[in-house]
Amino acid sequence: MSNDRPGSGHVEPGGIADAIALDAVAVVSSFLPNDLVAALRARAKACDAAGEFVAAGVGRGSARALHTDQRGDRIRWIDEAPADAAERGFLAALEGVRADVNRTLALGAFALEAHYALYPPGAGYRRHLDRFRDDDARVLSVVAYLNDAWHADDGGALRLHLDSGPRDVLPAGGTLVAFLSASVAHEVLPASRERISIAGWFRRR
Ligand code: OGA
Ligand code: MN
Repeated sequence: MSNDRPGSGHVEPGGIADAIALDAVAVVSSFLPNDLVAALRARAKACDAAGEFVAAGVGRGSARALHTDQRGDRIRWIDEAPADAAERGFLAALEGVRADVNRTLALGAFALEAHYALYPPGAGYRRHLDRFRDDDARVLSVVAYLNDAWHADDGGALRLHLDSGPRDVLPAGGTLVAFLSASVAHEVLPASRERISIAGWFRRR
């Protein structure tokens, strides 16, 4: 299994589309600047303190259900046109990715839906695909991590199941992972401390 160290398969922001074309996944270690990571983390904490997070579900529409055995996070959706400056900064950064992947990969990525996710210690998310059985609109999954000073022994890796084998990515603050929603199965391993991220999906029309 490849280690999650910068240099071991990590790319620059401009290399995201090429890495996805090659491996179905791209990992950028310092995609978000530290001040934006801190502002987004503070925003997530404030929303959580205000009771705005809800237990995450699995599935969609009438098939949607709570499966705490499958995933143990709680989430809060980010508005499409948020008032919060940090959230606007996040969406602007992702807009660059959308333009790049559409130009290079012709994914037809159109709109982004994104939510904060908070995993309490011990919580994970079992192996899954990000596409719903009844809806193939999600083309590209993106996950941005908001954690301060994450260490390998904190656990909480995102494990991607690639054709070339499993690949673990640590949820270090500022790291962005992007992968094809239709084909890359993945899971969140439990961590020994709280784990904060933003998970998003570009949809096609
Ligand atoms: C998800 C997901 C991965 C992560 O929310 O669908 O797979 O690393 N998240 O938080
Ligand atoms: Mn997922």
